[in-house]
Amino acid sequence: MRKHIVAGNWKMNNDLPQTELLITELLKQNKTSDAEVMIAPTFTNLWQAFESLRQESIEVIAQNMHFAENGAYTGEISASMLKSIGIETVILGHSERRAYFNETDESLAKKVDAALANDMRIIFCFGEELADRKSGNHEGIVESQIKNALFHLEADAFKNIVLAYEPVWAIGTGETASPEQAQDMHAFIRKTLADKYGNDVAESVSILYGGSVKPNNAKEIFGKPDVDGGLIGGAALKAEDFYAIVNAF
Ligand code: 13P
Repeated sequence: MRKHIVAGNWKMNNDLPQTELLITELLKQNKTSDAEVMIAPTFTNLWQAFESLRQESIEVIAQNMHFAENGAYTGEISASMLKSIGIETVILGHSERRAYFNETDESLAKKVDAALANDMRIIFCFGEELADRKSGNHEGIVESQIKNALFHLEADAFKNIVLAYEPVWAIGTGETASPEQAQDMHAFIRKTLADKYGNDVAESVSILYGGSVKPNNAKEIFGKPDVDGGLIGGAALKAEDFYAIVNAF
């Protein structure tokens, strides 16, 4: 069975005291679902978060990394640096990284390779913009994002890859893809994987949905057969809301 995963992407929110406070609040919540829970604080707070959650069943993950091992890349962080503080999973390809920091399918393919070479698990994000959806090209865009960044990999690599479909028009807008739109796209993504790698791989990869998932819509979205979890932005910043989403499974 595929893993259910609910991951909180904190983005550029929460300084150190706020991070400690939110973690304290998260630890007071009751988990009733089988979902794996992850949080992605900013780089500066990863170590503290990792230390605070060492004995707990919340995994601390990174929001990004560079593709090089080390070197003259001022301001960047490598996979081995993350690994050295205990971080095993990294989000790659978030639409905000693509839009504001010029990340491309090509640079993401390099990041994917670097993460895998360091035995890291990847949550790989992609999704269409509103104009693509309006023109009916949403599947074509998603297919090319996946193929360009991932289809050079061997089938075995997908043991360490989780996919996250995040339509750009639904991120931080309060507008969610309908459960049917999410299901249609997730089924299309799984078919794209099956065509290249076969059914076994396609059926084993968890595909998360992201974009304005809230306590009041999570159950319906997670109820769809090809939706295996969520990547949560705004609602991950409130412990009660985040756990209401975790417990929607
Ligand atoms: P929101 O849940 O705030 O729409 O953000 C989604 C997201 O970008 C998660 O990575």
